Amino acid sequence: MRLSRYFLPLLKENPSEAQIVSHRLMLRCGMIRQEAAGIYAWLPLGLRVLRKVERIVEEEMLKAGAVQLLMPTLQLADLWRESGRYDDYGQEMLRIKDRHERDLLYGPTAEEMVTDIFRASVRSYKDLPLNLYQISWKFRDEQRPRFGVMRGREFLMKDAYSFDIDEPSARKAYNRMFVAYLNTFSRMGLKAVPMRADTGPIGGDLSHEFIILADTGESAVFCHKDLVDMPAPGDDVDWDNLQDIFDERTSLYAATEEMHDEAAFGAIPADKQLSARGIEVGHIFYFGEKYSKPMKAAVSGPDGKDINVHMGSYGVGVSRLLGAIIEASHDENGIIWPESVAPFDVAVVSLRVGDAAVDAACEQAYKALQKAGVDVLYNDSDDRPGAKFASMDLIGIPKQLIIGPKGLAEGNVELKDRATGERQVLPLEAALAQLTKA
Ligand SMILES: Nc1ncnc2c1ncn2[C@@H]1O[C@H](COP(=O)(O)OP(=O)(O)O)[C@@H](O)[C@H]1O
Ligand SMILES: [Mg+2]
Repeated sequence: MRLSRYFLPLLKENPSEAQIVSHRLMLRCGMIRQEAAGIYAWLPLGLRVLRKVERIVEEEMLKAGAVQLLMPTLQLADLWRESGRYDDYGQEMLRIKDRHERDLLYGPTAEEMVTDIFRASVRSYKDLPLNLYQISWKFRDEQRPRFGVMRGREFLMKDAYSFDIDEPSARKAYNRMFVAYLNTFSRMGLKAVPMRADTGPIGGDLSHEFIILADTGESAVFCHKDLVDMPAPGDDVDWDNLQDIFDERTSLYAATEEMHDEAAFGAIPADKQLSARGIEVGHIFYFGEKYSKPMKAAVSGPDGKDINVHMGSYGVGVSRLLGAIIEASHDENGIIWPESVAPFDVAVVSLRVGDAAVDAACEQAYKALQKAGVDVLYNDSDDRPGAKFASMDLIGIPKQLIIGPKGLAEGNVELKDRATGERQVLPLEAALAQLTKA
């Protein structure tokens, strides 16, 4: 992408409405634009990161055996009347009438709809286990939308739903999502701690929130310090037998404020007690027959008798994750994207547009990187070098390939690492070799 042909509306000043650094930086970088309270347009740079976050979520869901579909955002109220949640949900639900005066709603979640899809076609225990998921826009008419994408009204969520024949297999499904979540967040450079959590309006009895520790987080959380740096389990696991991993991660104390038990927390050695604030990036629930029973989602068992399926649901705040990643990775100059989610891998920065040698070297680098499948932003704008350095630091591209007349005269370019600030002076070919090695 050539910057001169791109749409990157950077803000010079800090927007006064932004109270936390991630919101401030997303606005300044031209990633999002607020269109109404808690409702954002995703501008090209923001959309690139959003898509990368989605891809990671999709890849990890696939490994855990979940199957992707896409359900409509508008749902019939009648479906929610079956579970009783249409009346229970309250003002967070955006209720709509169509021209026939039929009650619709913009889905805040989709347990009812996925259960409807399931019961229409799954008949036998042989079709289980099944996990269906989507990545789609949700609407919740939050009382206090704030902190940008952290608490929006319209937001992108990954929601998965598991169906099993009985509780033991449902717990296996729960463990698969538990492990997939640890791997997902770790790939985004985040340290997520699973904590015992309240089940809220989803209902049920087993639930964990995945929390990123951050001073700007909305939740008060309490946990054993050793959980924070525990590495993610990785892919090399037995997906049907994850109980040991689950037990290892849940034997140490970790709870959100609603589930906090002061006595149990007090029993941890004092130097291991961590009382902090956190961002909830994921939330998983096991709720058994809560929806399958009223909505009659049953399969025939081995003996031919009907059995209500045992269900769980598993959310990831996909759009919220961008805020969480920025809270966890920035400095005074701007965002420092982990490579896995960076909007571009490399910025080619021309220090003198119009200089024949510089233009030729930049074009050569731009083409070679593109050809190697590297996402590259070619900064061919007329800005002064200082302004270019500042804007490339601000938007946080991991590597900057800086090409100017002075260096070229000596046969060199500069390669800068955004995270460490480290600069190497080297020939263009050597820089390209580094940037294109897989
Ligand atoms: N208003 C919101 N804005 C952005 N992300 C949200 C919002 N509400 C929920 N999420 C994300 O979706 C995930 C699943 O939501 P859920 O746990 O059902 O909601 P809640 O925590 O509000 O009860 C949460 O863990 C969070 O990451
Ligand atoms: Mg939650």
